[in-house]
Amino acid sequence: MRRRCGGLALASLLALAGCVTTPSPPTPLPDRPSLAQAYAGRLRLGVAVEPEQLQGAQAALLLQQFNSLVAENAMKPSRLQPAEGRFRFERADAIADFARQHGLALRGHTLLWHQRTPDWFWRAPDGGLAERPLVLRRLQKHIDTVVGRYRDVVQDWDVVNEVIDASQPDCLRDNLWKQVVGPDYVAQAFRFARAADPAARLWINEFSTTVPAKRDCLARVLHGLLAQDVPVQGVGHQMHLNLDTPTAPEVEASLALFAGLGLRNQVTELDMSFYRPGEATLTAPPPALRTRQAERYAALMAVFLRHPELDSVTWWGLHDGQSHLTRWPLAWRADEPLLFDRALQPKPAWSALLQAAPGP
Ligand code: XIL
Repeated sequence: MRRRCGGLALASLLALAGCVTTPSPPTPLPDRPSLAQAYAGRLRLGVAVEPEQLQGAQAALLLQQFNSLVAENAMKPSRLQPAEGRFRFERADAIADFARQHGLALRGHTLLWHQRTPDWFWRAPDGGLAERPLVLRRLQKHIDTVVGRYRDVVQDWDVVNEVIDASQPDCLRDNLWKQVVGPDYVAQAFRFARAADPAARLWINEFSTTVPAKRDCLARVLHGLLAQDVPVQGVGHQMHLNLDTPTAPEVEASLALFAGLGLRNQVTELDMSFYRPGEATLTAPPPALRTRQAERYAALMAVFLRHPELDSVTWWGLHDGQSHLTRWPLAWRADEPLLFDRALQPKPAWSALLQAAPGP
């Protein structure tokens, strides 16, 4: 990368400092088969990225192996509109421009997420808590502006993210959206998105969609939305998995339930941790885990391929070094959830998925 602000070495510092960067071109890679080509015509395969990755060796790898992108963070509401009316599009634009330039699909993630709703959404002019009409106007303005800006390049929007909670009587998470706007905030968000782009496919994105109580709650909410003609096309299944759970039959049961409601399915944030939540290690994981991971990725891909209504699988990161799981819950844990290692080399999971690809 060529930089126009001397001295700073780290990409993250550059981003923080808002320095201008000139992307270096993709670095040539060894000739190897392309996963995206192996699945072409059946599934789009994508990865979550930050703009810093769209150059050099990482850009080359993703262009060789994938045909779809999603912004790991750059399109979240708090990033796009940190203060009311002050949109910051630079990082999201960089990803959208790269997708346009290279003819990649782009998933939009996400228009509404309780974790990344900026505080100003809730503030009334008098400093108190804003009321429903004001919050809805703000939501509409946000959705209209963002969906409108990327209408030519984003064909799928995660309209709402992580709104389900099976412990709630109405299955909806207890958050400010529900408290201030009311439970119809979900329907409103979908309607605003549809008005902003009549052609985009609109998704409800959720984690743990294979856990029966959560899955059934999600189905109940969707049933209600469909009964009111809310324009929702499908379920985005995050699929942050580990080596044991969920099982292939559990994944199958979840996909089948939503397909049975006439909905589409997409896998939107796939990764496969070597650990269960809360476990961690500093030492390099034993190589046998990579083999198990490869077998399991192939078994799950076989389930995905049995579902004609599922047309896109996105990994939550390009390579193990960049995965959110190596930063959370512990900054140093040595996890390896993705298809390429820290040196951008393909792992056994990549080979297994190549083998599992449908024939021509
Ligand atoms: C995560 C990103 O990967 C992190 O970099 C960020 O700090 C927090 O968000 N479910 C989602 C994603 O829908 O947006 C989250 O992404 C991971 C969990």
